[in-house]
Amino acid sequence: MSDDKTLRRNLADRLAAAGHLRSDRWRRAVVQTPRHEFLRGGYFRRVDGVGPTGWEPVMPDAPAWLPATYSDDSLVTQIAGTIAPGDIRGLIFRSPTSSSTMPSLVVRMLEELNVDDGMRVLEIGTGTGYSTALLCHRLGDDLVTSVEVDEDVSIRARASLGATGHMPRLVVGDGLAGDPHGGPYDRIVATCGVLAIPPAWLVQSRTGGQILATVCGWMYSSELARLTVSDDGTAHGRLLGGQISFMLARPHHPPSLGVLPDLADGEERETSIGPDVLDDWTIRFVAQLAAPRTQLVRVSVDGGAERPVLIDVDAGAWAALHREGDHWIVRQGGPDRVWDRIEEHVTRWRRDGSPGLDHFRITVTPEAQTITWL
Ligand SMILES: C[S@@+](CC[C@H](N)C(=O)[O-])C[C@H]1O[C@@H](n2cnc3c(N)ncnc32)[C@H](O)[C@@H]1O
Repeated sequence: MSDDKTLRRNLADRLAAAGHLRSDRWRRAVVQTPRHEFLRGGYFRRVDGVGPTGWEPVMPDAPAWLPATYSDDSLVTQIAGTIAPGDIRGLIFRSPTSSSTMPSLVVRMLEELNVDDGMRVLEIGTGTGYSTALLCHRLGDDLVTSVEVDEDVSIRARASLGATGHMPRLVVGDGLAGDPHGGPYDRIVATCGVLAIPPAWLVQSRTGGQILATVCGWMYSSELARLTVSDDGTAHGRLLGGQISFMLARPHHPPSLGVLPDLADGEERETSIGPDVLDDWTIRFVAQLAAPRTQLVRVSVDGGAERPVLIDVDAGAWAALHREGDHWIVRQGGPDRVWDRIEEHVTRWRRDGSPGLDHFRITVTPEAQTITWL
């Protein structure tokens, strides 16, 4: 057996042993889909130091490359919206914008998608095309459409899919608009995170169709949601739990912070919860529900200790927190009191028994998305 075949089998065994890969059909897809073909352009290895995170290209001629393509890791394939591994030598210090998602997460999503033979699937976020290839293997190329916002990424995915014998329909465009000319779909699956499920996906789903996507916020807590579309054009479902995170859909990236607010402005009061609660994934998700457009940054004023500051750039609202003895003090400014909303929501969630995210319900209508706990 060739090296990569053995690596693929071992990967499938590991994914099955960890409970991610549960069915024979998806196991066969993993065993027969060569992930390394989707990473022929190399990947970026993360390099942490004292400064900002750097990314260093690893190309197919490096001994580490082939085994890495069968590791259970996300492998970054594009930085800063344009840069591919073959474009540079040395390190680059910008954010990843495309990747091959870690296989355990890919197969978990595919298992959660509940597909059956004959179903039409729309994937949002083609990336390298690896997850698209698994869908093609399971359903057949004719039943799979994948949308990618970045043309270069889509072109590379088309080549890799072709090299592995697949020809699904690939669309370049903003997947938040779905595939206006291709519905209705039985399943829509997003491999990029969204702030809210776009109404276009409801319109392009069949009645009874399912949508699987990660809902995220700008404090970067996120969770996988599965919804079923009703005949009245709304969708209902629940969060599945497991602390799933994906890179955000590009149009859902937060606005730049602009000029920081004057932290001496505003009004001060004691708060019953401190910003340390936001270290917890679930509480951060609850906080995001209360203040969905708020970003969390840490600011040191005049060389003093770092303070957490929450900023809603569009509303012009902010909250800065600091400790005095054993109390937390919040200072808030702007037209809205973001910390009041977070404090109220987190307190109510705790009063209701601090339910886990897998106890949260999600409803999407053409007008709004609502997430609540039971
Ligand atoms: C985590 S990667 C996808 C991984 C991919 N499924 C794989 O197996 O390689 C997320 C992808 O979503 C794409 N993306 C971001 N925003 C998008 C949007 N609005 N519409 C379509 N694709 C988008 C990114 O360019 C990126 O390629």
